Amino acid sequence: MKKYLLSFVILLSTFIHCFGEEGMLIPSLISAFESDMKAKGMKLSAKDIYDVNNSSLKDAIMHFGGGCTAELVSGTGLLLTNHHCGYSQVQSHSSLEHDYLKNGFWAKNHSEELTNPGLTASRMVRIDDVTASVLFGVNPSDNPMVREAAMRKNIEQLIKDAVTGTHYEAEIKPFNYGNDYYIIVKEIFKDVRLVGTPPNSIGKFGGDTDNWVWPRHTGDFSVFRIYAGVDNKPAEYSDKNVPYTPLHFLPISFKDRKVGDFTMVYGFPGETEQHVSSAYLKFIVDKERPARILMRQKSLSVIDAAMRSSDEIRIKYSAKQASIANAYKKWIGQVDGLKQLDGVSIKIGREKEYTDMAATNETWNKAFGQSVALMNKLVSEGSDWEFKYSMGIEYLYVGPEFYKLARGLDDLMKNYTKYEENGELAAVIEKSIKGAQGFFKNYDAGVDQGIFDLLTVEYVKQMNSDLITSSCGNIDVLSKAIFSKSVLTNEARYIAFLKKLNKKSIAKLQKDPGFKLFSKLFADFKENVVPNYQLFDDQMTALLKNYVAGKYEMFPDAKHWSDANSTLRITYGKLEGSAPTDGMMYTEHTTLDGLIAKNNTGNPDFELLPRMLEMHKNKDYGDYAQNGELWVCFTGSNHTTGGNSGSPVIDANGNLMGLNFDRTWESTMSDYMFDPNRCRNVVVDIRYVMWVMDKYSGAKHLVDEMVLVKE
Ligand code: ARG
Ligand code: GLU
Repeated sequence: MKKYLLSFVILLSTFIHCFGEEGMLIPSLISAFESDMKAKGMKLSAKDIYDVNNSSLKDAIMHFGGGCTAELVSGTGLLLTNHHCGYSQVQSHSSLEHDYLKNGFWAKNHSEELTNPGLTASRMVRIDDVTASVLFGVNPSDNPMVREAAMRKNIEQLIKDAVTGTHYEAEIKPFNYGNDYYIIVKEIFKDVRLVGTPPNSIGKFGGDTDNWVWPRHTGDFSVFRIYAGVDNKPAEYSDKNVPYTPLHFLPISFKDRKVGDFTMVYGFPGETEQHVSSAYLKFIVDKERPARILMRQKSLSVIDAAMRSSDEIRIKYSAKQASIANAYKKWIGQVDGLKQLDGVSIKIGREKEYTDMAATNETWNKAFGQSVALMNKLVSEGSDWEFKYSMGIEYLYVGPEFYKLARGLDDLMKNYTKYEENGELAAVIEKSIKGAQGFFKNYDAGVDQGIFDLLTVEYVKQMNSDLITSSCGNIDVLSKAIFSKSVLTNEARYIAFLKKLNKKSIAKLQKDPGFKLFSKLFADFKENVVPNYQLFDDQMTALLKNYVAGKYEMFPDAKHWSDANSTLRITYGKLEGSAPTDGMMYTEHTTLDGLIAKNNTGNPDFELLPRMLEMHKNKDYGDYAQNGELWVCFTGSNHTTGGNSGSPVIDANGNLMGLNFDRTWESTMSDYMFDPNRCRNVVVDIRYVMWVMDKYSGAKHLVDEMVLVKE
């Protein structure tokens, strides 16, 4: 009886794994999921999605600037991504006379499109499993150094073979903790121009108040165009370049939408950690995340108050505040979700299932029987190093900002003699001065001191270390000295120091209270914390490699997928709302009426330009409405993460329904564990995007470039 019960439990959990919407799938392996996708409503074939020899959907998907996703939507290289992905480009073109952030920008013709040095868009040419070739001739019994050298040689050769005689670039990445290797061949476009952006009041509507939140009303999109040489191949910017003719571009889905419609997200998710052990997840939920959240909460308490008190500080700190708050808010949701679902107990259950399965067979038992126990033991022995590493990141990299200046200076000090000898010194100093001017433009010493005071006390407490007080004395006294005397906290002092930099002033720098503190802490971080953390991480990767190999071997029928690693992936699900917590229902879409209702609350994050109020009053929605309503955003049960911003959400026929830009707060746990009941991605409806272009902004010429599909 017991035996039957056990196999029933195994069957049941395998069953659940199979039918969730979990997973970020490798495009070249998508045929394995074709029948399931079709059962869920998809009308395309696997070859329509990914094909190396013919054009396919993949050719319309671009890695945008390395961190986001974008998609081609016209035969002349028109590219859509999120507003927050193109934000720094829009900001760099903005000035008081041309306030594109506030008013938006629309190029009326190709000659008005704005160039963006350094911005790239990459198309994946192919993605292939090269595990056997990477491991060719590598002897498992050799020591790791020898093995790595052999693999490196194979990798170099494979890359060379893949790109020789082409204009492509290639890289080989480990998947599944090194159980598999894939080669990714790409075509990198280097002339990507800004075509248009809505004003912040649309593209950033809701600001931090609504970030990670549903219901959402953000028009999070911006428009670019890829230019190529006359041969249609990537070229550096030139006025001779012409709009790129894509192999494929996405038609626009103008069909009415309804709950249950098939959705697919095609993009570049950054990182997930589905396989971590129960003890590790407990470490994250109970210790690591709460401490990081607390550190950021302290910084934000200082920054938010200062931003409220002064417009100057508000402008200086808005980008920094947004970046600190983004992860802060995500982590709170993550911890909350994992606690509510008792993710640690779920993991313990799955680990037992795994170890029990290993025990059913001698070979498995030898290979995988200890896997779980070893991972959990390593957590108890080494996770403290990860904790210290995280605290170092929060304090030395995210915390008081003068540490950032100190890092740059540290570099200059260490290479001073070299720069002097090879005659580069003057140029390096000139560059440092420019960098410092940029730094101080957005710096307020009062804010930094507030952050320093709160975070230093917390850091000492969390690290349980007297390194600061024993080497630099009382924190209050130290704070006063740093902010009244250090060259790192005042622009005039710093520039004067750089201008007369010599061996003597370098020697004196060791007495600077700010630099002295930084040197002590940074040395400990780099020489003690980082190597120990690295060791822990390497050991854990090796254990995870074995654990994951066991999952594939012992549970061949479960739906397996490799964690996200910034390579092109597919995830599918459907358009649907969610019930994130007891007593709460989220409907699946929002409308322009809801946007106006938020504006009426008076919260400055919901400010609109008068034009939007007028447009809403006139209800001039044209063809963009559905049953008289203008949809703004909707949610889907697609498994996404950071990096999926800007990804196309594609319908059953391969047409573009909208742009992915966020997840609901309750779903952010999906980086560790996907829960089909609560995990939803947030999408701006393409019909709202088109309405903003056409009706709101008078850029109908762009809508006319696209292909609209109504049936
Ligand atoms: N949460 C989204 C992401 O992780 C959007 C961030 C930009 N929006 C914002 N209000 N900060 O990138
Ligand atoms: N906004 C995120 C990004 O920039 C996507 C949201 C998420 O993490 O799911 O990639």
